[in-house]
Amino acid sequence: MSDARTQFAACEALLNDGAVEACAVAAETLTKQYPKHARAWCLRAALAPQADIALKHAERAKALKPDLDCVRTALARALVRRAVEAGKAHSEARISLLERALAEQDDPKTWYRLGRARREAKDLAGAADAFEKCGDDARAKFWAACCRGDPSEDAPIEHLEALYDGYAGRYDAHLSDALRSQAPALVAESVRGAKARKALDCGCGTGLSGRALFDAEACLQLEGVDLSEAMCEKARATGLYEDVAKGELCPGPVSRRARMPSRRRLASHPRRAGAFLSGAAGANYDLLASSDVVPYVRRLEELFMVAAAAAAPKASFAFSVEKPLGDGDVEIGATGRFRHSVAYCEACAAKSGWTLSARRDAVLRKNCGADVHGHVLVFQRS
Ligand SMILES: C[S@@+](CC[C@H](N)C(=O)[O-])C[C@H]1O[C@@H](n2cnc3c(N)ncnc32)[C@H](O)[C@@H]1O
Repeated sequence: MSDARTQFAACEALLNDGAVEACAVAAETLTKQYPKHARAWCLRAALAPQADIALKHAERAKALKPDLDCVRTALARALVRRAVEAGKAHSEARISLLERALAEQDDPKTWYRLGRARREAKDLAGAADAFEKCGDDARAKFWAACCRGDPSEDAPIEHLEALYDGYAGRYDAHLSDALRSQAPALVAESVRGAKARKALDCGCGTGLSGRALFDAEACLQLEGVDLSEAMCEKARATGLYEDVAKGELCPGPVSRRARMPSRRRLASHPRRAGAFLSGAAGANYDLLASSDVVPYVRRLEELFMVAAAAAAPKASFAFSVEKPLGDGDVEIGATGRFRHSVAYCEACAAKSGWTLSARRDAVLRKNCGADVHGHVLVFQRS
């Protein structure tokens, strides 16, 4: 390894150990000795005490290696930092930076980032405009529809999977501290004492809903399914579940279904990834429970249908839904979550032989400090 490389690796090691000041000194020494070391200038930019100094270092790196990703990132961060120090809100600074970048070069990824930044700043029309400029990108189409309040797009499954894979590590703490989610306890309460001999936690996440089901004596034995492998791993580690399968609850829309294994293959391999409930026909669950998962599913007919095929006669299906703000059956919010009316749930359920046996209206959780109202519904299979 060259001396410059060794010194840079030492800087990174110092940073990884949290020795920030020692790292800053080592990076300065490195740039004095090797003034053409672009990555070292980036490091100095990241550690600079003031935005102007960070920008100077980032520009130096740009002059040396303009195409390096770390150089672009260092420059963008320094510009945002300068704007924030000049009194602009962080999101505003990000937005103007992204708009400037787009004026120089049209790029779908930058339009996507701008959409996200505008959405965070609550400029929903502007966010939708930006997402619509991303080209043929399912995630961007979904977010554009969310920002326009148009519930006609399904949430892309890859997007949900990536979201929850990235969220699994901090999910439990976030759910109790920031979101103050009541959904696991409310769903479990709705079937308290059921002592189901074979139950399925649909969208089990890290296992909080499974714990609540056992606490309420809703089941004696429990399986779980979730589309995020990282969430599944957390659920498995609780030891609460007989089995936790990675899979999607029900088949998605036609475009997604085309990429899935056939129904027959799923039926012979019910534990493989894919539409789990379709493969679980005849499994005879006497309880299906789902807390805070149905808001990710747009249309519910198919969910009830596959749930009915997997359920034992007289089985219960208990779940939470978010309440629409208007009179519509299905709404979508800028959060990317669907809101379903009780009447719509009942109509979809009736098509596959489910009838509503209990309903509770409640605050399910918080979103940015505001109450999220919803319902806990229990359906009975005839
Ligand atoms: C908000 S979390 C709820 C987790 C758990 N039920 C709880 O109450 O803590 C939503 C979970 O549903 C999963 N999920 C969302 N859509 C799904 C689908 N179509 N099929 C299976 N899992 C899904 C996500 O991966 C995530 O783990």
